[in-house]
Amino acid sequence: MLHVNSRIFTSILLLLVSISIKGAKGIVGVNYGMMADNLPTPELVSKFLQESTIISHIRIFNTDPDSLKAFANTGIAVSVTIPNDQISSFTDLEFVQKWLVTSIMPYSLDTNIVRILVGNEVISSANRLMITNLVPAMQTIYTALVNESLDKSIKVSTPHSLGILETSSPPSAAKFRPGYDNHVIKPLLSFLRATDSPFLINPYPFLGCSNQTLDYALFRPNSQVLDEITNLTYTNMLDAQLDAVYSALKVIGFADIDIVIAETGWPSKGEPGQVGVDVESAAEYNKKLVLHVKSMVGTPLMPNRTFETYIFGLFNENLKPGPINERNFGLFHPNFTPVYDIGILRTEVFASSVCKHCHDTKYLFMISMLLYVAFVLAG
Ligand SMILES: *[C@@H]1O[C@H](CO)[C@@H](O)[C@H](O)[C@H]1NC(C)=O
Ligand SMILES: *[C@@H]1O[C@H](CO)[C@@H](O)[C@H](O)[C@H]1NC(C)=O
Ligand SMILES: *[C@@H]1O[C@H](CO)[C@@H](O)[C@H](O)[C@H]1NC(C)=O
Ligand SMILES: *[C@@H]1O[C@H](CO)[C@@H](O)[C@H](O)[C@H]1NC(C)=O
Repeated sequence: MLHVNSRIFTSILLLLVSISIKGAKGIVGVNYGMMADNLPTPELVSKFLQESTIISHIRIFNTDPDSLKAFANTGIAVSVTIPNDQISSFTDLEFVQKWLVTSIMPYSLDTNIVRILVGNEVISSANRLMITNLVPAMQTIYTALVNESLDKSIKVSTPHSLGILETSSPPSAAKFRPGYDNHVIKPLLSFLRATDSPFLINPYPFLGCSNQTLDYALFRPNSQVLDEITNLTYTNMLDAQLDAVYSALKVIGFADIDIVIAETGWPSKGEPGQVGVDVESAAEYNKKLVLHVKSMVGTPLMPNRTFETYIFGLFNENLKPGPINERNFGLFHPNFTPVYDIGILRTEVFASSVCKHCHDTKYLFMISMLLYVAFVLAG
């Protein structure tokens, strides 16, 4: 009896702690890419995330059944992706209904599937057919979800590269690229608004950064950037990129749509001599990113807003094509040792929450004591 009670007690305590870590402070998730031949099985990954990290949200780049099964009964929120080259099939309702029944519903009872992402960075792909099919595919998936009463628990969206912006400097003058703005982006935003789904973006300050702007991109002290239209001062590049997206949304009447950072990150290894690409810089970016999105400070144009944020990525992916840095965005090596430490391992969180969030801890301590007394009394 006592054994059972203490297990229940521990679970409730863990739950309370994790609620206090996640709640109100911005969600930090991770992109789980699998372009590698040396990764552990999804089952081991799921166990690792659950037992050793505070990561509560992941995104996978497919709808792999083994991965969906692996995250069953973990509570981890999973976003799945329909690969770009399959989008055209998803404009056909009959196909989508069957797909939903065979590829999603067998898993969605036990696995917390929260989002279906239709492609990745489709609008900046320059593939006209794919771009044309994007919103119809999203609508078709939504229709099928509604019919199965899954539309409230599973949302449909699609992540964008910042290449969809024509100008992004100063942030307040940003606009979507003409041509796509009316024909694709407006219908897309109307869909997101009607279905209460967020706008997903993939900002990478790393990509827009030179020797001169490295400090600005890495949230270090820097000379800052003034937006002369608003007189607002930017202390870091991510804020400027988020506000550029916000301004582009606002100018076409969609400032109310939630913004989610679907991917951001920093490589830990690059070409020899590449400035700002090393383990220390990657650790610095991701650590300060987490602090920033959890701080609730928001951005100059979006004060006090939090952004659900997904770091790219979980593992280094040794089969990714392109320059060396592409294979080195991971937080972890395939054997689960951290490439660097950004404070998302469980033990550290307990330690740091005791020191830094005495207020929360006191509150939790009181609840824990009350529960403990209750369990002791209940015998
Ligand atoms: C709606 O869902 C039911 C099962 O709940 C299924 O039999 C039917 O084919 C679906 N029809 C449409 C039009 O979505
Ligand atoms: C960037 O700065 C480093 C030293 O800080 C210097 O060695 C390198 O040549 C610079 N690269 C460019 C492209 O300016
Ligand atoms: C920005 O600041 C300058 C100088 O302080 C001032 O002249 C200008 O009117 C301000 N503009 C806005 C939009 O507040
Ligand atoms: C942001 O939060 C601060 C402190 O809680 C508050 O004073 C301020 O009014 C808030 N600003 C907005 C725009 O909500």
